[in-house]
Amino acid sequence: MKVLILGSGGREHALAWAVKRSERVTEVVCAPGNGGIGQVARCVPVDLKSLDDMIRLAEAEKPGLTIVGPELPLSLGIVDALQERGFRVFGPTKAAAMLESSKGFAKRFLQRHNIPTGNYAICTSAAEVEKAIDLFRAPMVVKADGLAAGKGVLICQSRSEAVEAAKGLFSGNLLGEASQQVLIEEFLEGDEISFLCLADGKHVAPLAPAQDHKRIGEGDTGLNTGGMGVYSTDEMLDPAMKEWILRHIAVPTVYGMASEDTPFCGVLYIGLMMTARGPQVLEFNARFGDPETQAILLRLESDLVEALEACIDGRLSETELRWSPGASACVVASSGGYPGSYKSGFPITGLEAAARVPGVEIFHSGSALKDGELVTAGGRVLGVTATGTSLEEALARAYQALAEIGFEGMYYRRDIGHRALRRTP
Ligand code: AMP
Ligand code: GLY
Repeated sequence: MKVLILGSGGREHALAWAVKRSERVTEVVCAPGNGGIGQVARCVPVDLKSLDDMIRLAEAEKPGLTIVGPELPLSLGIVDALQERGFRVFGPTKAAAMLESSKGFAKRFLQRHNIPTGNYAICTSAAEVEKAIDLFRAPMVVKADGLAAGKGVLICQSRSEAVEAAKGLFSGNLLGEASQQVLIEEFLEGDEISFLCLADGKHVAPLAPAQDHKRIGEGDTGLNTGGMGVYSTDEMLDPAMKEWILRHIAVPTVYGMASEDTPFCGVLYIGLMMTARGPQVLEFNARFGDPETQAILLRLESDLVEALEACIDGRLSETELRWSPGASACVVASSGGYPGSYKSGFPITGLEAAARVPGVEIFHSGSALKDGELVTAGGRVLGVTATGTSLEEALARAYQALAEIGFEGMYYRRDIGHRALRRTP
């Protein structure tokens, strides 16, 4: 079977790597892909902002399975468009992807189905914000309703700061595009966990849990990024807590979507804050996380393609996901300056020596092939990922591999997983 993966980041590289291991797969095509992905898949150009272009590509390639990586094509309705044309696609429909593409939709949905989440108000004008703000205490969170690639969330220390932030979102000064709706949210405190599940419209199957590190600086300081590193261990969630999250959050979400005639088939990424009053939903994503996927798929022992096909066919309950025990970790190497402005085009060295470190896989987020040489081509460049019998071992291997790699301005956090290590007795 030929598999088409839409997307161009580390997540898609990890998906291509995992898909390629399936006995049923004869060819992996990634569109548009990147320099590193080109080592495991045939990369072909596509415009992920254009439904027509993605349809043209599918009709030319005729894949037996298409996997949609990023949120934008999902929110445009690529799954609906390809399904209408008879293609098998893994991912939610446009209506189901609203769990990610509208934070207001997600909050109202959570409330309708009594799924734990923080208090919120949805406002359509600055005047409404000024009225709603009295219901909140500082700090509070102001969010754009729509997709904003992680840039639409502002943590505000006072009511006046929150009102200013909301005005900036409505006017378009903050994101470039004016928000139609802005959310005010209670600020939740605790540990964040990325709880990803496969869903087939009726059933859910949890993936290994993961914890992302969103800030650029060590000690979780500085600006938000797409994610600077992730780790995954079984100990992150004890079995009783995992069961509670499944029963009170994941299953009600999938049942709720089905009961509203927008069944959710794909990856349901539940962003959780583990607060003093229990797990609360921070957000949903309707796709695999990046860099969570890099760490999670390295621990998956069973066949990914088999599991994704079970979702499409509605037989996830008959499918068993098998995970390797122990741990995995992914450390992101980024271009100097990221998440602000940065330069690209620098040669990446040491990749072969790094890949020889036991248990290591290197997934490329932003690289390109220039005159036969891999060069940097993005803010996040590499996700150096490793497994180990313990988190310490996985991290030591990832950092040992990173020590082999170099490019001008290379930056990475040296404290990935440290919060978990401090907690370990
Ligand atoms: P989101 O795009 O909604 O996931 O928000 C991005 C990040 O902002 C989250 O991963 C959290 O770290 C933080 N965040 C979002 N909402 C809240 C909240 N209500 N309380 C505290 N932190 C939040
Ligand atoms: N790592 C966060 C995300 O994929 O949105």
